[in-house]
Amino acid sequence: MNLRRLRLNSNIRDLVRETYVTKNDLIMPVFIKEGLDGKNEIKSMPGIYQFGENAFLDEVAECIDLGIKAVILFGIPKLKDSCGSDALDEEGLIARSVRKIKETFGDKIAVITDLCFCEFTDHGHCGIINPKLKTVDNDATLEISAKQAIVHAKAGADMIAPSGMMDNIIETLRNALDSEGYKHIPIMSYSTKFASAFYGPFRDAAESAPVANEFLPKDRKTYQMDVANAREALLESLIDEAEGADILMVKPGLAFMDIIKTIKENTLKPLCVYNVSGEYSMVKAAALNGWMDYENLMMEILLSFKRAGADMIISYHSKDAAKLLK
Ligand code: PBG
Repeated sequence: MNLRRLRLNSNIRDLVRETYVTKNDLIMPVFIKEGLDGKNEIKSMPGIYQFGENAFLDEVAECIDLGIKAVILFGIPKLKDSCGSDALDEEGLIARSVRKIKETFGDKIAVITDLCFCEFTDHGHCGIINPKLKTVDNDATLEISAKQAIVHAKAGADMIAPSGMMDNIIETLRNALDSEGYKHIPIMSYSTKFASAFYGPFRDAAESAPVANEFLPKDRKTYQMDVANAREALLESLIDEAEGADILMVKPGLAFMDIIKTIKENTLKPLCVYNVSGEYSMVKAAALNGWMDYENLMMEILLSFKRAGADMIISYHSKDAAKLLK
């Protein structure tokens, strides 16, 4: 057998190439911090910033110039309380930010809002705490999640992405959006989200590390999935599909390629992969030390998500990759 015949010339290699990353695949996360002037580099994520309420518009403008199709917004409000009030306020940080993007750029870029409470609560957990259970109360959190979805939709979000891993969240949000006149707003579910150590740097970026004390769990393992479970991973996504999710997701990506492939083979819905903070930081750290080549490593990783079955990728590399993709 001679397989090298098709590798000897780059034009022929291009002809037989099976998988591509394009700008159409990329979603860039943007962190917006209330009260910040300018921007603030996140120590554990070199090259990624928290932006003040004006500076973030420059970041969005840059994404548009680079041909990126969507941003996903994360907010760090001044007010953090037990139920994440800022996230429920039509004048809250994310609502203001969505309106600003839409007023400034119209439909030049899609605005996806991460729907969760961990950045908005003083305890850093993804919803309302049930003191008896000593963890997040599922149904109380569903109620406020529905409110948060309407706040996002009213502000002009193009898509809503619930990331809290509450049971029945998709059905709840779909019903809320439909009954308030937002039938047209798609839901991208963080359908298969693992309780992963790879989120470490994000919690610096979003200032959302969970507080541990005698009334609270020290991690998110009572709502995010056990990294050991593959059948449950599929079940989580299939349930969200049945509840009406428009796009499914696997998060993180790199250590979960098997999960990406399995879910892709079992759904006809588009699949997003979240190339999370720790995955970005590892690559950056290696590159900054001169141990590996940043651009090649980044493109290989993004490509591997596509090969495994991703239709789109949320990645902190999105701007860097778009620059290379021209
Ligand atoms: C909010 C949320 C998290 C991430 C995205 N949305 C943090 C978490 O679940 O702790 C992680 C993203 C990343 O690590 O890049 N629930």
